[in-house]
Amino acid sequence: MTAGPTREAIDPARFISNPSTGKMGYALAAEALARGADVTLISGPTHLMPPAGVNLVRVTSADEMFRAALNQASGVDLVLKTAAVADYRPEQRARSKIKKEALRRRSVRSRGGDGTISMRMVPTPDILEEVGRRKKPGQVLVGFAAETGDLAANALKKLRRKNLDMVVANRIGAAGEGFESDTNRAIAVDRHGKHTELPLMSKSDMARAILDLAERLFEERPGRRAGA
Ligand code: C5P
Repeated sequence: MTAGPTREAIDPARFISNPSTGKMGYALAAEALARGADVTLISGPTHLMPPAGVNLVRVTSADEMFRAALNQASGVDLVLKTAAVADYRPEQRARSKIKKEALRRRSVRSRGGDGTISMRMVPTPDILEEVGRRKKPGQVLVGFAAETGDLAANALKKLRRKNLDMVVANRIGAAGEGFESDTNRAIAVDRHGKHTELPLMSKSDMARAILDLAERLFEERPGRRAGA
């Protein structure tokens, strides 16, 4: 599982990130542990206590999360990617803190002294898409999507593009949902195109509901003995 935000450094004192707290991912890790799974949690910076018994891998940037996730992914049955990964990072990370005066001088040169500065950003690797590309037979991949637009349509597009088995989509910007909240409301769309409404509930209840759905998809894998 991946959880939390990533931080993309500008210099040692500044970074670009997002409001993800990691609560949904940590709740899923706790629930999977309670069901007897061996859980590796690849976590961006959060203030949360990792659940007892989890194999915790701490990372900071999207590049680090990419390497950690690819290291782990080939050997697992279920991949859940709740992390809010930055899509872009600054092209260059300054080794020492960039001084305001230096920024001003630069802006004077590059922008004719209007006080603005610009920074080149480059795309980060899409971790889930790469894990999807390398998916082993029988592996179940679950992605998450924070959307402001048409939840179900965007979830299905993401599922196909990233070769996933299920996408859990929640609306950001609504009270009690998504980032920073203790509760969540979502739609799960699976590889058969089936939609399941997950009404407003605590993130631990939602973790239970998501793992119930993921387990069902896992049980469909070819050659699996009933009850095994
Ligand atoms: O395309 P979008 O970023 O909305 O997809 C969200 C899903 O993809 C989440 O499960 C997120 O953890 C994953 N993701 C990723 N690597 C990225 C961007 C998103 O694994 N660089």
